[in-house]
Amino acid sequence: MDSTVDYQSKLAGYLETNEAAQATTTMDVIISLAKRRGFVFQTGEIYGGFASTWDYGPLGTEMKRNIRAEWWRWLVQGRDDMVGLDSAILQHPRTWEASGHLSAGFSDLLVDCRTCKLRFRADHIPDSQCGLNSKVHPGEDKQCSLTEPRQFNLMFKTFVGPVEEDAAVAYLRPETAQGIFTNFVNVQQTMRRKLPFGIAQQGTSFRNEITPGNFIFRTREFEQMEMEFFVKPGEDVAWLNYWAATCFEWFTNLGVSRDRLRLREHDQEELAHYSNGTYDVEYLFPIGWSELMGIADRTDFDLRSHQTASGRDLSYFDEEAKERYLPYVVEPALGLNRALLTFLIDSYAEEPDKDETRVVLRLHPRIAPIKVAILPLSKKDTLTPLAKQVHAAVRAQYMTMYDESQSIGKRYRRQDEIGTPLCVTIDFDSLTDNAVTIRERDSMSQIRVAIPELLPALREKLGF
Ligand code: GAP
Repeated sequence: MDSTVDYQSKLAGYLETNEAAQATTTMDVIISLAKRRGFVFQTGEIYGGFASTWDYGPLGTEMKRNIRAEWWRWLVQGRDDMVGLDSAILQHPRTWEASGHLSAGFSDLLVDCRTCKLRFRADHIPDSQCGLNSKVHPGEDKQCSLTEPRQFNLMFKTFVGPVEEDAAVAYLRPETAQGIFTNFVNVQQTMRRKLPFGIAQQGTSFRNEITPGNFIFRTREFEQMEMEFFVKPGEDVAWLNYWAATCFEWFTNLGVSRDRLRLREHDQEELAHYSNGTYDVEYLFPIGWSELMGIADRTDFDLRSHQTASGRDLSYFDEEAKERYLPYVVEPALGLNRALLTFLIDSYAEEPDKDETRVVLRLHPRIAPIKVAILPLSKKDTLTPLAKQVHAAVRAQYMTMYDESQSIGKRYRRQDEIGTPLCVTIDFDSLTDNAVTIRERDSMSQIRVAIPELLPALREKLGF
């Protein structure tokens, strides 16, 4: 934390909403682009699709890898007070008793309709449609027959070993966080860490969500990037402010529009019972302002619960203060898929270009799936060897795409649509002047560069 920065006032600014801001596009446009250009496909499409489940195509896979890598570079590699962890998806079943995930707190109240067989979240009924008559809410049609609300736990249950019996029940983790808490002492001692320090983790989580939907916004299988920051009790509020401001800036530094981003503080009723304060980073999705990530002060709730349940001492000895205590925890928790959706939506633009419309993803170069496209002007044998040679040199440094089919204009448009920041064109002059053209996605400006100067020029333009 930088003692010269006033994080409280930064937060105050980030809490402000730009009332005039509008979503850049619709979800249908993004879903269509994602499928057409190989970012995201529906799982099991050949079988009619598996509801609310998505596969990531070649470009979506690259983008996910880039977001993960960028988060890790920023949070773990770039800091002295952070280490990483990779804990199991199948945690010890007692973990979930201690964390509270098997109790009512991690459950939704559900109502079933005996007639249409649909299931609704009790608190979502005023916003839901009846399965028989889309003009009314569930329960309002005379044929509706709703059950009383019943608890439905969101944990995915499975069985470990060959026998399906109670003793073999295990759960797929609903958050990566608990593996961090159960390993707190292991990590602190093996890495000889002093407070404050954080443990970061990325990985898949599972929740049997009742109302998944809105493309990849809410799914039953998703990836999280979470960090638990362990601090001395009493220092938690300052760190909460710090992490809320810092996480907000992570998005704006990667190009997400300030106008479509805001912080929202949870009020007292909304706060989880263990939390001393929570901020959500919200984004103006096409479905309206919605949570992108959460930053929560979880107090010592988790360490204390695991200490009580396991009987193991999870406290920390503070050598400076000469006292032993359970650390408090500030947790920034982000969904990778939701971050990807945000980057896709926020970077999307349609703009007039001559008589046509140019679709462009103005993705930050760190996030863009392809950094440089290599485009020989012709497929002729005279040009191909040089083009391949340039490609070999560039691909050693950056993710590239080699494209030699159709007109150069069409190829530029294809790269704009997938967010490629730079295109390198090899033409017949290249054979004599040993130079190529770099074309920028955003300005569409072009410069001629000698081939030996190409890599430094790309590095300067990309920023890495
Ligand atoms: N450990 C704290 C925790 O898991 P959360 O608010 O439930 O907190 C953190 O989840 C983030 O994970 C959310 O802000 C969201 O980005 C993502 N997330 C949660 N549930 C999700 C779901 N069903 N589908 C996609 N992303 C989800």
